[in-house]
Amino acid sequence: MIKLSQIEKTYATPAGPLRALKGIDLNIKKGEIYGIIGLSGAGKSTLVRCINMLERPTRGKVFVDGRELTAMSDSELRSVRKDIGMIFQHFNLLSSATVYDNIAFPLRLAGKGEDAIRAKVIPLLKLVGLEAKAEQYPSQLSGGQKQRVGIARALASEPKVLLCDEATSALDPQTTRSILDLIKSINERLHLTVVVITHEMQVIKDICDKVAVLDGGVITEQGTVLDVFTNPQKDITKEFISVLLSNELPVAFRGGLVEKEYSEGAYLLLRLTFIGESADEPVLAGMIRKFPEVECTMLFGQLDQISGQPFGRMIVGLTGPQQQIDMALGYLAAQELREEVIGYVRRHGAAAG
Ligand SMILES: Nc1ncnc2c1ncn2[C@@H]1O[C@H](COP(=O)(O)OP(=O)(O)O)[C@@H](O)[C@H]1O
Ligand SMILES: [Mg+2]
Repeated sequence: MIKLSQIEKTYATPAGPLRALKGIDLNIKKGEIYGIIGLSGAGKSTLVRCINMLERPTRGKVFVDGRELTAMSDSELRSVRKDIGMIFQHFNLLSSATVYDNIAFPLRLAGKGEDAIRAKVIPLLKLVGLEAKAEQYPSQLSGGQKQRVGIARALASEPKVLLCDEATSALDPQTTRSILDLIKSINERLHLTVVVITHEMQVIKDICDKVAVLDGGVITEQGTVLDVFTNPQKDITKEFISVLLSNELPVAFRGGLVEKEYSEGAYLLLRLTFIGESADEPVLAGMIRKFPEVECTMLFGQLDQISGQPFGRMIVGLTGPQQQIDMALGYLAAQELREEVIGYVRRHGAAAG
């Protein structure tokens, strides 16, 4: 549905040319929810604005639904842009227009009659749960309600693609959840292809099928959310994921207490990740039976889901004879799970927690 081929974007700035995108290749299939995650300044907004050609790429080609947008004139682009809806971090609503009129806006621009507009707007109000708010103004709405108006307005022209640029970044976690649920249900009901731009891994984990990590104008990693999440390759990806996982460590172990090197009597902290089928296998019980001298303390455990697959995470602390611990690690390495040594923590550190 969306294909980007070797997209480059260079801005002319007073300080000289700024290469915001450096050769982006991306292929997004119809009906997918595709996440693009990156730090501030990575080029996310530039990328999403190249998809709808609000920004013309300096080089490369953009295809949406089989048509090459980079080959079109501005007037041709105006007509294909109705296939591409967009929602923004700060909603971009007209403050002097009611909810109804905000949603009607693109339809009026397109020259639709008032009856046709009403027939379109009323179901959209229902879809986003704002029937009761039709005559209110944006200033009378909560952030979540404003974004619902933004979504309804984006859907008014029946787009095939919905671009979301940090659409939940100004919202609290609960409201974020409800907006993400709405986007997901729209994706399913209308078979809409959705591109989600965010700096938050939680957003990617909650609704995306695929993810690309954008860093300094380059895609450094991409794949299914399950693969990238459970087996990140690049440091920046690990960093994004660690933000989600950092709360796993018991309080006493967070911060400076975890050491890189073993010292006498320290626990080895091990993060275990179980994916899919292996999430129900008694791997730990097997290890404990095989290596009875290794003492294994469970510090954290959670069973979660990513893209419908069971996904378990666990942190355990191991102590015992070094050689036995090494063998236990070897045993775990041979099982269907991922294990990662976080570091070492001294017993009294544990006791203090
Ligand atoms: N219109 C512009 N003119 C000049 N530089 C820009 C412009 N838009 C963005 N940039 C620069 O391009 C880089 C990428 O910006 P942006 O795409 O907004 O990143 P993100 O959305 O990931 O924060 C940044 O260094 C930013 O300063
Ligand atoms: Mg941005």
